[in-house]
Amino acid sequence: FKMKTILAIETSCDETAVALVRDGKELLSNVVSSQVEIHRRFGGVVPEVASRRHVEQMTFLLEEALQQAQIKAEEVDAVAVTQGPGLVGALLIGVTAAKTLAYSLGVPVIPVHHVAGHIYANQLVGEMQFPLVSLVVSGGHTELILMEDHYDFERLGQTRDDAAGEAYDKVARLLELSYPGGPVIDQLAQKGKVTYNFPRAWLEPGSLDFSFSGLKTAVKNAIQSEQEVVVEDVAASFQTAVLDVLVEKTRRAVEQTGVRQLIVAGGVSANTELRRRLQSYARETGVTLSLPPLELCTDNAAMIAAAAYYAEQKGIKAGLDLNADPSLPL
Ligand code: KG4
Ligand code: ZN
Repeated sequence: FKMKTILAIETSCDETAVALVRDGKELLSNVVSSQVEIHRRFGGVVPEVASRRHVEQMTFLLEEALQQAQIKAEEVDAVAVTQGPGLVGALLIGVTAAKTLAYSLGVPVIPVHHVAGHIYANQLVGEMQFPLVSLVVSGGHTELILMEDHYDFERLGQTRDDAAGEAYDKVARLLELSYPGGPVIDQLAQKGKVTYNFPRAWLEPGSLDFSFSGLKTAVKNAIQSEQEVVVEDVAASFQTAVLDVLVEKTRRAVEQTGVRQLIVAGGVSANTELRRRLQSYARETGVTLSLPPLELCTDNAAMIAAAAYYAEQKGIKAGLDLNADPSLPL
């Protein structure tokens, strides 16, 4: 028995999202209500504000997702939800909504790890070919993951401090740019020159871990020691330092494991220069590259539904005692 139609809910951070996906692949609807405008004035996500907004939006989004998919709630076979990691108050809204809906429909709840969701965004646009390496780069995660089969995750490396997107956001804040910083720095970097030699944290030889907090501090010191800062040049120099490490460690992960497919996920995979570099790497080596379209790279619930379809086949499901876990391991 396969879960044909899955309704998924994602509320781990500042996007309230509901989606309906059929057979793990076919997108019936994918609605996302972003809170970016609300959090912008604070320069970052305010957890309590995020939770409250999720509560306000949830029922509307559930209705809208069902309406766009043109199905009735009774046709839903399972409810999937992001169990973690993320902001605990924000996660709790999604988990509570999912349990309530599942209970009222008499269907199971499938808990999904947020990073598994990002990875499975790729399954909505193609077919995963195992073994593969996945680079997950978002505001909360920077990870290299090896998958030998569906829903089988082996972490090869991860950040020891800031995530890549977090570094973009923090540097944008230092430059007094608006939140979220990634897209703004992406644009500015295209107009700038690499004039600063910021540090690249390679860590111990052979390590596939990342570290971006030293880079952030170096940017801060550079900005403070200068009379007139050319924002475009700082952006270009910072971005080059981030991408040099991200792309090189990804390349090493692919070569060490001998995989033939590389999939990329998470908000930072929207970055123009990262996409360009990975595309040229794939062209040169013949590795198959899967880069989901931007709306599936940033937080959404379709990716959670896609992941849940395979999670369920591995026997993963939850009871009504399911709890949000802000530091859920993959
Ligand atoms: O996956 P996502 O939407 O949410 C998390 O799970 O964190 O990722 C958001 C992150 C933010 O840090 C944002 O600045 C970054 O992705 N981001 C970008 C770009 N677009 C979004 N970073 C670099 N370049 C971009 N074009
Ligand atoms: Zn995310």
